[in-house]
Amino acid sequence: MEINDQLVDEISKHKWHHSFEPIPGIITPGRSYRNPKTCLDRMGVQSDLTGLRILDVGCSDGAYSFELAKRGADVTAFDIKTSERIDLLKRITGLNINYHTMSYYDDYSNLGTFDMIIFFGVFYHMKHPILVLEKLFDIANDGCMLCFEGESLDHTGSQLLSEALINELSSKPVAYFVLGDYHKCDTNWFIPNRECAKAWVSSVGWTDVQLMPDESFDITVGDVTVKSDPCRCWGTAYAKKGI
Ligand SMILES: C[S@@+](CC[C@H](N)C(=O)[O-])C[C@H]1O[C@@H](n2cnc3c(N)ncnc32)[C@H](O)[C@@H]1O
Repeated sequence: MEINDQLVDEISKHKWHHSFEPIPGIITPGRSYRNPKTCLDRMGVQSDLTGLRILDVGCSDGAYSFELAKRGADVTAFDIKTSERIDLLKRITGLNINYHTMSYYDDYSNLGTFDMIIFFGVFYHMKHPILVLEKLFDIANDGCMLCFEGESLDHTGSQLLSEALINELSSKPVAYFVLGDYHKCDTNWFIPNRECAKAWVSSVGWTDVQLMPDESFDITVGDVTVKSDPCRCWGTAYAKKGI
């Protein structure tokens, strides 16, 4: 699509969460930087996803959904937010996303089954993270890859617990129950440490749970490069249903 003033004006009328580049030269003006290509490459997601059905849970503006569609996947995405921004990006990119406005606690039976599930930035916003992981396992095809990401207690400094206690607990699966505001957001429930995030995922049947190295990396969007938030853990797991 040609980049013109009308297009830029149309984008600026929406309230964006992500700052990302759906097509070269167009950057959505959100406060949270996303380079979905960097993140998916880092997790080992292949560049050709043709023929795969992928679900993006709590996709927000769809930064990851559109990158997956660009790689040839048949993408379904949902969020509790309305679809206007996704609809606009569908027009701009010419890519299709099967978007549903729904909650992760809703019935998934109309979504079908999936070969990959993206579960980024959501588990710590859930009152029932294990229930949702279980619901996702039920709609995972044999061999389905789960890519997950979220807040990790190990890197919260002394905001929630003392660093000494966090270090002492780091080999045990522990989650902190957040009451009220945390990171200027009052929709957080449980902040697991890395062991606990792994344990939540494996407890409902996902296997081969691996966490990515505990390190920050560069996220570049247009001319801006920021460091990924260090208090996050990134990981993968698989649904092995044939065994
Ligand atoms: C921190 S954002 C993560 C967005 C995106 N997945 C990412 O990693 O960049 C959390 C998202 O979860 C969505 N959300 C919150 N409660 C939800 C619910 N009950 N069902 C579905 N999505 C929800 C929010 O609207 C928001 O877009």
